[in-house]
Amino acid sequence: VSRPRVLSGIQPTAGSFHLGNYLGAIRQWVALQETHDAFYCVVDLHAITVAQDPKTLRQNTRVSAAQLLALGIDPEHATLFVQSHVPEHAQLGWVLQCLTGFGEAGRMTQFKDKSARQEAQVGVGLFTYPILQAADILLYQAHHVPVGEDQRQHLELTRDLAQRFNTRYGKTFRLPEAYIVKDTAKIFDLQDPTSKMSKSVPTGVVELLEDPKRGAKKIRSAVTDTGREIVYDPAGKAGVSNLLVIYSALTGRTVDELVAAYEGKGYGDLKKDLGEVYTDFVTPVQERVRHYLSDVSELDKILARGAERAREVAAKTLARAYDRLGF
Ligand code: ADP
Ligand code: NA
Repeated sequence: VSRPRVLSGIQPTAGSFHLGNYLGAIRQWVALQETHDAFYCVVDLHAITVAQDPKTLRQNTRVSAAQLLALGIDPEHATLFVQSHVPEHAQLGWVLQCLTGFGEAGRMTQFKDKSARQEAQVGVGLFTYPILQAADILLYQAHHVPVGEDQRQHLELTRDLAQRFNTRYGKTFRLPEAYIVKDTAKIFDLQDPTSKMSKSVPTGVVELLEDPKRGAKKIRSAVTDTGREIVYDPAGKAGVSNLLVIYSALTGRTVDELVAAYEGKGYGDLKKDLGEVYTDFVTPVQERVRHYLSDVSELDKILARGAERAREVAAKTLARAYDRLGF
């Protein structure tokens, strides 16, 4: 029996991923490569929906791939590739754009958020981005797509477009399902624990590639409330609860175990220990990232092999779709 296929992508724009990206997404990618035929891509086509400096983009794409490898994506096990290396993404993207209603695309709430936040001119690519995302998924006939709340609407669009194509032209695409991964942690900003950790609000963000000492210091100076008891209470004690979730995710100890272990101790103890846990986690990751980036030609080879494997699948799907379309 072959394993179900999973597809997921991450943007290279930030350069360094942050702790939320790791605990909320990449860590699950690593687990899914054991149970699934996994396709993971660095989505550089999506990145240019916002203006990018070419040199920086190329560097960030490599840095992103290096981080994925350093965090445990095994290129022998999963297919790791760069989106622009597989031209079928853009090709199917066009086909799907022609199937999407203007109003339908306009209902995507992420576009509304992103375009409202963006100061520079908003390009059409930002508007059609979820359609390219649909192509990313459908090309691989993915069974499962790991999705957070913010991506649900895009997966619905993907399913609608697959269904529409299949109805109009004959069965071509598998309808992907949302895959809720257990142990997915939503990580909050360390300075504002009511909003999620995100590069767009950079104050309380721990970047995986920043000096571990700085990262640990950010953890030690995380905002906590005025009480003193270490309890898990996301509504009443958002800061402490966030730290417990991070601690639990990085150590595999349950939140309950941690609460018991810290009975009678203070926030300072928790933060100091978590700072050390984080340092122990991130230091070898950074070493591996440096290793991958020290030999860019080897890294590029890994990505070229990934793109080749991805293309085998993507080209087959696209050829079928083109045939159905009358091309
Ligand atoms: P950002 O919000 O910093 O722009 P992205 O939107 O690029 O990050 O997110 C990439 C992946 O990381 C997505 O799967 C997203 O759900 C996940 N992710 C981002 N921030 C967090 C967070 N604070 N907690 C958990 N997961 C997160
Ligand atoms: Na986001």
